[in-house]
Amino acid sequence: MLISGGGSNLQAVIDAIASGTICNGEIKLVIADRPNCVGLERAKTHGIKSLLLDKKNYGDTEQLNRAIEAELDNVGIDLVVLAGFLSIIDQKLVEKYRNKIVNVHPSLIPSFCGAGYYGQRVHQAAIDYGVRISGATVHFVDEGTDTGKIILQEAVPVLEGDTAKDLAARVLEVEHKLLPLAIKKLCEEACKNQQ
Ligand code: GRF
Repeated sequence: MLISGGGSNLQAVIDAIASGTICNGEIKLVIADRPNCVGLERAKTHGIKSLLLDKKNYGDTEQLNRAIEAELDNVGIDLVVLAGFLSIIDQKLVEKYRNKIVNVHPSLIPSFCGAGYYGQRVHQAAIDYGVRISGATVHFVDEGTDTGKIILQEAVPVLEGDTAKDLAARVLEVEHKLLPLAIKKLCEEACKNQQ
């Protein structure tokens, strides 16, 4: 799993594995692209191998991607989960892991997504537009930004007087449900295909 921040989505997946909701998957590696990610501590607490590949130490996106690729190769993984990961995944990695990289985005794609829509900006844009429904989406990662095929999606109401922070918190709760469910679905499909 790749993270950039609090790692609450990572925690949701850890919990789903612990409770047996995801029964045929394990987290082999957590990579953070910036220091002080609480998510790294979460991984350590649960005995999951974790690494900091600080993006500041790499000249550009490609170098960071090659470092990530090398680490993924080292452990051997079937699925790459972007859980609040803010760096760009480049074409080479997308091609190598076609339909094996998933991302959770805090809106109903195709609304409020794409370049520049990350973090609180997504929720502020939804509020500014005046939509009454936002939500969360788990989707495959392709060469575009938030353009890959949708795996799961769930709506969340936008309430009168909501701030971006209020809406973010409501959407995050749904992300915590949706991301583990999407991973469960993909793990089950992978198992079926192996039989
Ligand atoms: C989530 O809302 C995710 O969709 C967005 O950033 C937030 C990350 O939360 N990209 P966390 O790091 O999993 O707590």
